[in-house]
Amino acid sequence: MAASARPSVVPQKDLESFQEHLDKSTRILALIGAGLSASSGLPTFRGAGGLWRTHDATQLATPEAFGRDPGLVWQFYSYRRHMALKAKPNPAHYALAELARKKEDFITLSQNVDGLSPRAKHPPDQLKLLHGSLFDVKCSDFFCNYVESNNYTDPIVPALAIPTDESDPTTTSALAARELDISDINVDLPELTFSHLPRCPKCKRGLLRPGVVWFGEQLPAKVMRDIEEWMVGGDKIDLIMVIGTSARVYPAAGYVDAARAKGARVAIVNMDKNDVPASGLYKGDWFFEGDAAQIMPEILKGVIGELGDMPDAAEE
Ligand code: APR
Repeated sequence: MAASARPSVVPQKDLESFQEHLDKSTRILALIGAGLSASSGLPTFRGAGGLWRTHDATQLATPEAFGRDPGLVWQFYSYRRHMALKAKPNPAHYALAELARKKEDFITLSQNVDGLSPRAKHPPDQLKLLHGSLFDVKCSDFFCNYVESNNYTDPIVPALAIPTDESDPTTTSALAARELDISDINVDLPELTFSHLPRCPKCKRGLLRPGVVWFGEQLPAKVMRDIEEWMVGGDKIDLIMVIGTSARVYPAAGYVDAARAKGARVAIVNMDKNDVPASGLYKGDWFFEGDAAQIMPEILKGVIGELGDMPDAAEE
């Protein structure tokens, strides 16, 4: 066997049995979550990274939070847009994108809104964005249907610019001043009112809001339909990979059991060995413990080969 370019991070026995199964699998699903982007430097939601200033990040992701304090919610999302734009896709994003090119009946169900899988050139038809995108914006007015995709303007309005430390002695101009980390509670946030926030260009009445799915909201109808069609489009499913997600949020987490019901073996890739789906692990499943960015290229290598150049669509 040829020597591997990277040191192995998974037990050989698991690797062999997984690769053998992957090789003969045709209908494959992946359910991905925030842990996939963790090594790109983006925080996860639960556990250590889940606090934004003094707020539980999941508490800011609701229509009620936006109704109560749209300025605060926009500051949180503006920060996330900014951080996601600064981040780069990692080898796990590229490995999944390559697998999609190699296995045409493979779809990835993404709970991530950070845009990193699209930037890794994941084939769009094989990537289902369950929770929308940070780079979509839509009108929050119930009677207006304005939606804009791929809005990468950062900041989206001047008032949402990340504040900088103009007193930083290492800089000579305010513009070049050190950018502050607004997740730090010692950094004051400006008070924002309605007039500072992005307004709908269509109805001119409503505030724009991030095009992500908040708690209590429906998942995008077309995405759900596509997935449903795929699920019923074959007698069985061979494999579901559950990567970097606590698999606690429904309906996304429900796809693990739905795939299992159609015969799928489950492969989990997670830093935390306690993060198994609610139905647990069955005989014949795999648990690959560690960083998805290291594990994914290794376990998929038999099909995708070594990852070559990793182009970031954002830089082209
Ligand atoms: N490699 C693999 N797994 C990792 C890594 C890593 N480098 N870092 C963290 N993890 C794991 C954690 O152990 C955890 O199981 O990733 C998972 C992240 O879980 P969550 O923070 O709950 O994120 P996610 O599952 O994507 O959350 C689902 O909840 O708040 C909502 O809408 C939000 O889409 C999100 C949804």
